[in-house]
Amino acid sequence: MAIKYTFVGHATHIFEIGGKRIVVDPFFTSNPFAEASADSVEADYLLVSHGHFDHIEDAVAIAKNTGATVIANFEIISWFQGQGVAGENCHPQHLGGGFNYDFGRVKFTVAHHGSGLPDGSYGGNPAGFLISAEGKNIYLACDTALFSDMALYGENGVDLYVPPIGDNFTMGPDDALRSVQLVKPKVAVPCHYNTWPYIEQDGQTWAKRVEDNTSTKVQVLGPGDSLDV
Ligand code: NI
Ligand code: MN
Repeated sequence: MAIKYTFVGHATHIFEIGGKRIVVDPFFTSNPFAEASADSVEADYLLVSHGHFDHIEDAVAIAKNTGATVIANFEIISWFQGQGVAGENCHPQHLGGGFNYDFGRVKFTVAHHGSGLPDGSYGGNPAGFLISAEGKNIYLACDTALFSDMALYGENGVDLYVPPIGDNFTMGPDDALRSVQLVKPKVAVPCHYNTWPYIEQDGQTWAKRVEDNTSTKVQVLGPGDSLDV
């Protein structure tokens, strides 16, 4: 069965895998691209990459509304429990570790970034995600700088790669192109750009550069657009 991927906007993503809805970095309320309001979001799982507000803003509310299982690093999971999210709905993981859920496997990858929580609490180390399900591999770099070990994450073949291209806070277009050359995915979808003036980029220009320099196909998704992985 195909995996349905929907780009909500900024760095918020929804995957539908075998009847389960996995919402990554739930940022709806202050997200200028998000069409849905946080209280209408349905989720079986929430995946949270790090503690910054543009990745975690609505996570506590959605977790409480839906009873979704929250997957994040140990420090963020502890913070969620402090915010009143039930312990049985919390699954801590950490960098380099994978776990087999009922929809597939999630492995936490390295990300070079920060992870402080909105109230100033310590949020541990930021992460990216390798999701393996339905015979496909998806690599969400999440907020990160370029690093050469991204090549390792591509070794088993990546069907969908989602890098940030916004610059300023994360990889910009040049480094995101380099990362595609390391990961060698079949398809790349850029994210984390055009949300605010600091990260204005042209997705189509980046797509052409990538396709001119690699064999990866780039799909520039607008808010709410979907594709089958
Ligand atoms: Ni961030
Ligand atoms: Mn961010």
